[in-house]
Order: sequence, then structure tokens, then C-alpha cells
Amino acid sequence: MFIGRIELPNRLFVAPMAGVTDRPFRQLCKRLGAGYAVSEMVTSRKDLWNSLKTSRRANHEGETAPISVQIAGTDAAMMAEAAAYNIERGAQIIDINMGCPAKKVCNKWAGSALMQDEPLALQIVQAVVDACAPHNVPVTLKMRTGWSAEHKNAERIARAAEQAGIAMLTVHGRTREQGYKGHAEYDTIAAVKAAVKIPVVANGDITSPEKARDVLAYTGADAVMIGRAAQGRPWIFGDIAHFLATGEHRAAPLTLQVKQWLLEHLEDHYGLYGEFAGVRTARKHIGWAVRALPGGEDFRAQMNLLDTCADQVRAVGDYFDQLAADHDRLPAPRDNGADLDDEEEQTAHTASCHEH
Ligand SMILES: Cc1cc2nc3c(=O)[nH]c(=O)nc-3n(C[C@H](O)[C@H](O)[C@H](O)COP(=O)(O)O)c2cc1C
Repeated sequence: MFIGRIELPNRLFVAPMAGVTDRPFRQLCKRLGAGYAVSEMVTSRKDLWNSLKTSRRANHEGETAPISVQIAGTDAAMMAEAAAYNIERGAQIIDINMGCPAKKVCNKWAGSALMQDEPLALQIVQAVVDACAPHNVPVTLKMRTGWSAEHKNAERIARAAEQAGIAMLTVHGRTREQGYKGHAEYDTIAAVKAAVKIPVVANGDITSPEKARDVLAYTGADAVMIGRAAQGRPWIFGDIAHFLATGEHRAAPLTLQVKQWLLEHLEDHYGLYGEFAGVRTARKHIGWAVRALPGGEDFRAQMNLLDTCADQVRAVGDYFDQLAADHDRLPAPRDNGADLDDEEEQTAHTASCHEH
């Protein structure tokens, strides 16, 4: 699997999720089997580049290559500048976001709203490709199937994007109008794959090894991208890799191993955000890790009241030690972790896109 000339170790990707796929989480997913991770969206607005939020997002210290940064915006020249800015800071791949349905982004005609204005979308694509070419940096594009059920133009945009020099396309199998509702469909992704020669990545509602296998087979896609199902379960990439290689499920991870992964993640997370913001933003990751486990909801409620790193680490350690006393291996999640249309996550996404 290649993006331009950059070779990837496998075809299991972590989806960019604003407020979630920061460097510590990307790094954890890569350690546990993801072959590629796209960073959260960085705004093309120059006035915000020095904000704490944007500079944290552009921090790639110690991250396993390739470093890929997603940019979002509405103006071709500004997007080209944003690409160059991120290349200077270490980006080896630039991803254009045409998939984000959050209101603010769409009101400003960015994210998936761009799919409704094909000439502008292609102007942006061309400007970013031209800005990246002298640096030998491939440009990829992430989009939805279209604007609405009546306007599914992913295939047309895909052909034009390939002509313009895009190196890889990711398609989330929903329209912009759907937000996160309903189900992802894979027919449009298969049509995009058949229409272009560049690699195509299938995304949307992939929650299990079987689903990954089936989506790969049905769409002919070169890779799958997983977002919400990796929240709290970053080892899903290793699970899928094992299943694709052997046709068998590997055992659930040891409970104490999961504890260790989570504590290492927290340490890295506090290192990036500091204590005040770190403890607060870590709550969602801890919540996702425990929500479907025995006593997880109660633990989550109590843990949300703690506001120091030391208390949070102690509480997480105690919770998993207790769980390990009864369960050598992590018990199967009560709902199989498949409640992906969760309101809370949708709100988190919208909020993150608003916060620029
Ligand atoms: C909390 C959250 C934040 C997201 N942020 C972004 C983003 O910044 N850029 C983007 O292209 N997509 C974003 N997405 C969409 C995901 O990349 C992905 O396309 C979508 O969640 C479908 O995949 P899944 O069903 O595996 O979660 C976000 C999704 C969620 C849930």
C-alpha cells in the first residue's frame, strides 16, 4: 500500500477525528496495529496558527512516520499556504478535508459543503497539489458520497481529483445531509474505486474484523479507515490484521495489558496538554475505554469528578486491577462497542470543529 511514493506497513487506517486523534492517540493506534493515521484538521486560517489548539495539533514530536496532516478551509490560496505551513512543520502527506459535516465548517463552505461547489472544490485541490508538488509531498482527499441522497457526486469528484494529481481518496459512505445518521453504504465507494486508478480507502461503520473483510471485498478498496470503533479500543487494528491474515479471531487482550496501554496513553496525553487540560480531555478516552465494561458507567461518573493527573491515574489503575481480579482477559463489551451513532460523539465532533 503506497501513498505516492510513501509505503505503508498495512491497509488499516485510523480516521481523523477532531478532539480525538491527537498525537498521543495516533501513536497508540500505530503501536497497536494501525498502518496509518491522519491528524486532526488544522484550519487554513493563518490568524489561528499560533493558537494553542492549532500548535498542539501541528505537534508531531516522536510520531511514527509518515506524518499526515489534514487541512480544511474555503479559499484555495489559503489552503495552499496551510499546506506549505504544515510541510515546514514536518507533514509528509497533506489531506484535504471534504468530509466534515459540522455546521460552522459548512456555513463557511468548507468540509463536506465543498462537495456542493465542484469548481471551488477542484480549485482548492489544484492549489494544494501545486503547493505540495515542489516538496514531493503527496496530497490526499477525504470526502463523503455526496451532498445528499439526490446529489451523490463522489465519483465525479474522484475522477477530477485524480486528474488534478491527488494521490489517494478516502470515502466515508454517507452523504453530508446524513451527518452520522443511518448507515454507511458501500456501493458509492465501490463505484469510486472502479472509476480511478489511485488508491481508495473505504470508511464508515467498520466495527469488527468481519466488517473490515467484507467492506474490503465488496468495494475492492485498497484500505479501510476506522474512526469511532477505535475509541477506547485502539487494539482493534491488531485484531483486524490478525483476522485478515489468519481468518481467526485472536483472544481479547489481557485486562492488565489494557490497563498498561491506557496508563501509557494518559502519560503521553498529559505530556501534550498539561495537567489542567490534560485531565479534562483524558476523560473521554477513559470513558470510551470502560463504558461497555462491568461497572464502567459508575466508574466513569466518579472519574469525571477527579481533577488531578495523580487521582485519575490511581482511579484508572484501581478500576482495572479490580476488573482483572475477575477477568484475566478483557470481558466482551456489553453492546459489542457498536453504538456508533452516539449523540455525545456527534456533539463532540461539532464542538471540536467549532473551537478553531
Ligand atoms: C468526534 C469525531 C471527529 C471527527 N473529526 C473529523 C475531522 O476532523 N476530519 C474529518 O475528515 N473527519 C472527521 N470525522 C469523521 C471521521 O473521520 C469518519 O469519517 C467518520 O467518523 C466515519 O467513520 P467511523 O464510522 O469509522 O467512525 C470525525 C468523526 C468523529 C466521530
